[in-house]
Amino acid sequence: MQIKSKLNNIVNSALKANGIEIEEVVVNEATKVEFGDYQYNGAMALAKKLKTNPREIAQNLAKELDGNSIFSKVEVAGPGFINLTLDKEFLEQNLLNTLNNRAGVSKLNNPIKVVVDYSSPNMAKQMHVGHLRSTIIGDTIANLFEFLGDDVIRQNHIGDWGTQFGMLVAYFEESGANVDAKLSDLEQFYKEAKQRFDESEEFANKSRQNVVRLQGGDAETLKLWSTFIEKSLAHAQDIYNSLNVKLDSSHVRGESWYNSQLSNIVKDLETKEIAKESQGAKCIFFEDSENPIIIQKADGGYLYATTDLAAIKFRVQELGAKRVCYVVDARQAEHFKQVFQTAKDAEYANNDTKLEHIAFGMMLDKSGRPFKTRSGGTVKLKELIDEAVDRAKGVINRANEYSNEELEHIAKVVGIGSLKYSDLSINRQSNYIFDWDKMLSLDGNTALYMQYAYARINSILTKAGDIAETEPTLGDELERRLALKVLSLEDTLIKAYKEAMPHIITSYLYELATLFMKFYEQNPILKDGVSQEQKESRLILAKATANAIKVSLNLIGIEVLERI
Ligand code: ARG
Repeated sequence: MQIKSKLNNIVNSALKANGIEIEEVVVNEATKVEFGDYQYNGAMALAKKLKTNPREIAQNLAKELDGNSIFSKVEVAGPGFINLTLDKEFLEQNLLNTLNNRAGVSKLNNPIKVVVDYSSPNMAKQMHVGHLRSTIIGDTIANLFEFLGDDVIRQNHIGDWGTQFGMLVAYFEESGANVDAKLSDLEQFYKEAKQRFDESEEFANKSRQNVVRLQGGDAETLKLWSTFIEKSLAHAQDIYNSLNVKLDSSHVRGESWYNSQLSNIVKDLETKEIAKESQGAKCIFFEDSENPIIIQKADGGYLYATTDLAAIKFRVQELGAKRVCYVVDARQAEHFKQVFQTAKDAEYANNDTKLEHIAFGMMLDKSGRPFKTRSGGTVKLKELIDEAVDRAKGVINRANEYSNEELEHIAKVVGIGSLKYSDLSINRQSNYIFDWDKMLSLDGNTALYMQYAYARINSILTKAGDIAETEPTLGDELERRLALKVLSLEDTLIKAYKEAMPHIITSYLYELATLFMKFYEQNPILKDGVSQEQKESRLILAKATANAIKVSLNLIGIEVLERI
């Protein structure tokens, strides 16, 4: 349920009853426990506007609000803050509704069509750590949008076109029958091809000719190229599968796919006088930047930006997207700003289409340098994933006896979960400091902490057997706050949805699990001396908590375990 919008409406009515009409009422979560659950801080601004006393406005409002049974306490504080505390009964009445597979979260009233462009690796090399953030942040927001009811189209805008492919095709031709064996190690293949390119002028020329042949649609060249792309994609797919990321071949629409549209895009932009010729190249200039976009080089070749313009046109006009999210490194901010501006100028997208660069920071090591292998190379994603699973084996509680198979499964869920969670749990716009120990820690805002909390609750519920799903009677303040936290999942997800910020979900998870642990410490469930009514209520609370944890973790692509 959406508690906040409910409260906004209530405050709005109270304002009206006091003869005040305003455009938008915004109630916020209280910043401190002492201030209740929510606060309305609008009285100060209103007083200024109406030239009256803020405290008086707040007091009159509070009087009105106090009559509503949703509140157990309405209090005016300081110059005119209104602190609101929700009544237990309201929470009790709603808690049972969260025990479904959506944890009580409804779908949006007005869903839209959204394209999420994410992962989008370049195909010339193996996937490396540089692709991790886009892949998991993108997958999370796509899951979230979909969960809230949007029609989500995932797009993997792979880099499968351009100069380096001419080189790879040339190396293909040279390697003859051995192609398959060679391609089993893409990295090695790329290295060897690059070496040939650097050492032989003849090879380099062939490579350049191949680029021209590729772009011209030569069948033989295209065939070799597509073998290469197929292999690269199969490798990427393995990574997606092990990361529990929902991308598959149906989402791939790479740069090459737009090739046939690029000449028209350039022509169109010239006709509209958006692109101009400069030193033989076709460029778009911007008042606020020294860097133009180049859409066609003097030799006729098209560029990254040209493809992106064609892609926007396609996504908006053919796919019908109302929101297009580009989950790409923050260093491409200027590229997207200019491409979006151009798309609007050229009317490929109109003003009510939201084009968003979902930017994220760099991945750094503990000393603040870009994350590299010991020898300074790029860390391959495959190796990172294997290490995460390996390390997870070291933190699993061996007091439980697991079969080998079970242990492998748990290590995978914990290892991959930790790898993803630690990245998603910081504001995506910040740089992310990669730290194995921190990510696999049992306390703190980690996947393991959540998974343990879930497994613990699960074991309590299993011990308890069947639970009567009747309306709970909340006891102390901890129980009331825990119920409120469970019920505020929908508000949380809506906020994460609007801002496309995964860490809003993990922060919620951390608060929820921490609150549960506190509650459980003080309020035993299955111990002697707990009354039947108390026991039943606490079981409902526990079940609702576990359910909210599971739904939230699944949204960020992390599984739960019945036991760890
Ligand atoms: N392939 C690009 C890279 O690795 C990312 C593509 C992002 N998507 C886009 N539509 N430009 O940098």
